[in-house]
Amino acid sequence: MRAHEAGALHGDLGSSGPAWLRTPDDVNTLLPQLWPRTVTRDGAGVVAVAGVPVTDLAARFGTPLYVLDEDDLRSRAREFAAAFAGAEVFYAGKAFLCKAVVRMIAEEGLSLDVCSGGELAVALAAGFPPERIGFHGNNKSVAELTRALDAGVGRIVVDSFWEIDRLTALARERGPACRPAVLVRVTVGVEAHTHEFIATAHEDQKFGFSLAGGAALAAVLRILDEGVLDLRGLHSHIGSQIFDTSGFEVAARRVMGLQAQVRHARGVELPDLDLGGGFGIAYTTRDDPTPPTDLAKRMMKIVEDECEGARLALPKLSVEPGRAIVGPAVLTLYEVGTVKDVDGIRTYVSVDGGMSDNIRTALYDASYSATLASRSSPAPPILARVVGKHCESGDILVKDEFLPADVQPTDLVAVPGTGAYCRSMASNYNHVPRPPVVAVRDGAARLIVRGETEADLLALDVG
Ligand SMILES: Cc1ncc(COP(=O)(O)O)c(C=O)c1O
Repeated sequence: MRAHEAGALHGDLGSSGPAWLRTPDDVNTLLPQLWPRTVTRDGAGVVAVAGVPVTDLAARFGTPLYVLDEDDLRSRAREFAAAFAGAEVFYAGKAFLCKAVVRMIAEEGLSLDVCSGGELAVALAAGFPPERIGFHGNNKSVAELTRALDAGVGRIVVDSFWEIDRLTALARERGPACRPAVLVRVTVGVEAHTHEFIATAHEDQKFGFSLAGGAALAAVLRILDEGVLDLRGLHSHIGSQIFDTSGFEVAARRVMGLQAQVRHARGVELPDLDLGGGFGIAYTTRDDPTPPTDLAKRMMKIVEDECEGARLALPKLSVEPGRAIVGPAVLTLYEVGTVKDVDGIRTYVSVDGGMSDNIRTALYDASYSATLASRSSPAPPILARVVGKHCESGDILVKDEFLPADVQPTDLVAVPGTGAYCRSMASNYNHVPRPPVVAVRDGAARLIVRGETEADLLALDVG
């Protein structure tokens, strides 16, 4: 029996332990709210995605491996579209973007939010309709803005006076036929209940125009008075991995207040309103996300009430979920390399990836769960920490998880909930190549992003 078997720890894991796990049966159980929707486990304990065993995936594509459950992603996209019927749902590509996912998003009828020239290039390369693309970013270069205009993107969310001036100048150069549609990103002063680095609407940060300080109104008036850009509306994004809808409600109230100020100042009612993304997902059993239908009802109701109160016409609403669409659809598959007991503390299970394929635990203190995916085990549970192979003691993937006490090298471990901000934030730290992404559907797996090789890394190093 290894250090920290579950029996010994029963009851008190403080705030960091997965307190629901108690027995070998529990350890071998996959909780549906944490796993992609088509995931199953057979009698021998082998986990499968859309009918394809992870042992087959590992043998064919190697590990680490991001495994995308295509039906899961598509169904979540459809659920958002249905819940926000009448509104426009932009998939936030920063969560994860590649050509195959762009096509899935297009086929499910969503629009797409990009925030760099690179993301725009991927969207266009996949043939995404430019008029359904929104372009974000707090420091868009002239080259990026030019590219967006050339491509005919549907709207640009402006984020600084510099950008307004740059875009105005570019549009003037092109003549009166060029009237780019823009939204003004407003910093509404909401303290979202999430990690500091992913909260984006408190005053002291880099995004948007401050509402309280008057910059937001000034930006709107500058655009209206110049008359070159087509100001469609206001935009607010309060942060990411948010469960409490009260933040969205306060944000909606405040932007609608600005909407009323704009009408008072210039007699103009802006037709669009974007309330951003940020809807939380379940990484562990402690997370209890609000279903999209409830989110949509609450958000639409608050906008309706505010409009009624201020006698404003109802704007066309849009939202920008990223994590809530792709996050739960992916699991990452790793092979165990070493298992080390640190007596009296915990067991460290080292896998063949780490912070280079999932930086979120190190960056945001994020919590994940994991399971032994290549077999089930009757061994008692031990409290384990799943760590990577990088030269950092903070190279942690899963802070606390119960795994069977006989977990050993060559076992496969799967970590769910890794679709958002994992591959998209991946690095080559320690010259570790970034893993491939496979999409699995109806019993078939296809490679959608090739894994890097050492040759790829060396090709960049021109000596
Ligand atoms: C402006 C904007 N919209 C949407 C998103 C997507 O957030 P999430 O993936 O949490 O839904 C982000 C994330 O940073 C964002 O900055």
